[in-house]
Amino acid sequence: MSFRTLDEAEVTGKRALVRVDFNTPMENGRVSDDTRLRAALPTIQELRRRGARVILLSHFDRPKGKRVPAMSLKPLALPLAALLDAPVAFADDCVGPPAEAAVAAMKDGDVLLLENLRFHAGEEANDVGFAKALAALGDLYVDDAFSTAHRAHASTEAIAHLLPAYAGRSMQTELEHLEKALGSPTRPVMGVVGGAKVSTKLDLLENLVGKLQFLAIGGGMANTFRFAQGYDVGASLCEKDMADTAREILTKAKAQGCHILLPTDVVVAAEVKPGAPWRIATIGHDLAPGDRILDVGPDSLAQILDAMSESKTLVWNGPLGVFEVPPFDKGTVAAARHAASLAKSGKLIAVAGGGDTVAALHAAGVAQDFTFVSTAGGAFLEWMEGKTLPGVAALEA
Ligand code: 3PG
Ligand code: MG
Repeated sequence: MSFRTLDEAEVTGKRALVRVDFNTPMENGRVSDDTRLRAALPTIQELRRRGARVILLSHFDRPKGKRVPAMSLKPLALPLAALLDAPVAFADDCVGPPAEAAVAAMKDGDVLLLENLRFHAGEEANDVGFAKALAALGDLYVDDAFSTAHRAHASTEAIAHLLPAYAGRSMQTELEHLEKALGSPTRPVMGVVGGAKVSTKLDLLENLVGKLQFLAIGGGMANTFRFAQGYDVGASLCEKDMADTAREILTKAKAQGCHILLPTDVVVAAEVKPGAPWRIATIGHDLAPGDRILDVGPDSLAQILDAMSESKTLVWNGPLGVFEVPPFDKGTVAAARHAASLAKSGKLIAVAGGGDTVAALHAAGVAQDFTFVSTAGGAFLEWMEGKTLPGVAALEA
């Protein structure tokens, strides 16, 4: 994988169209998590320092080609200005007269945020005409939105063929870390995959078993695997119709030398409620009909921690239990802390991604000790599935 970075771009006095992902969580019209704003700062500040005019392009939510006032990007201009410690102008439309006038008024070092790209149907249609209207506003294109790179949209794909195109610093950092984690990793490589369903992570599991030496499976999807092996899972979440698929994945893993870790003991409760009474049960031994598996047990956890200690690289997507409902967060938190401490002492390259996963790492207070935490949800998953991301392919030099 090779792509051009800002190192190769001539930017002074130029209009740089920078695709960011400002699809940030909002509550009551305010940004409630500014991670994605912060992720864009290095690129924006570097371009300003180097004398470029920075024009920011982003989508927000899913307005489906219509102007939906509640999905305006305008409420992001002020928080962004505060983070940049510089004014951020806003244009009411991302193409046409409002955008053209706002761009014409810019000086070197200025920052302009354009209105939601998805107010135009051409964006999601990857329409060349719409991409041309965007491209007309700039002299070069910088893609700093890895978390949107799984979408072939006008602002992530078509436009990259119309202007000199570069990866921004956040995109570059994401790609470099992901390459280190799965592209050409230091072995042994371990994966931790959790979450509710096998069906949503099927492609990911199939790709991973060909690349990893250890794969710990947790969350609801582990129940499906145990059920597929003939074990009782009580009243737990389980996709019975995925049993054949689960068995195929286990066979494939064995053939390819990937050691799968499934829970041997589990935390069970009758209901998923904070502080609900719970006990430890052993798989294949003492599960009762009403038991719901909500976390990994201590023996299973110890096996996961041992495998982490033996590994040199870790890639993590999905919690091991119902981490939002304590005490069923214990397994996820303990595993996250162990990975973080190994990473901190330089023994493990630990990379994580996906909305739930990142929330779990923050809840465990260890996100900052991971080698890298991706800003991406869907794009991180598709990358773990081994798919080519259109927004990345369009940058290939
Ligand atoms: C995300 O939040 O995952 C990205 O911004 C992509 O958003 P989308 O799923 O609406 O395309
Ligand atoms: Mg999404």
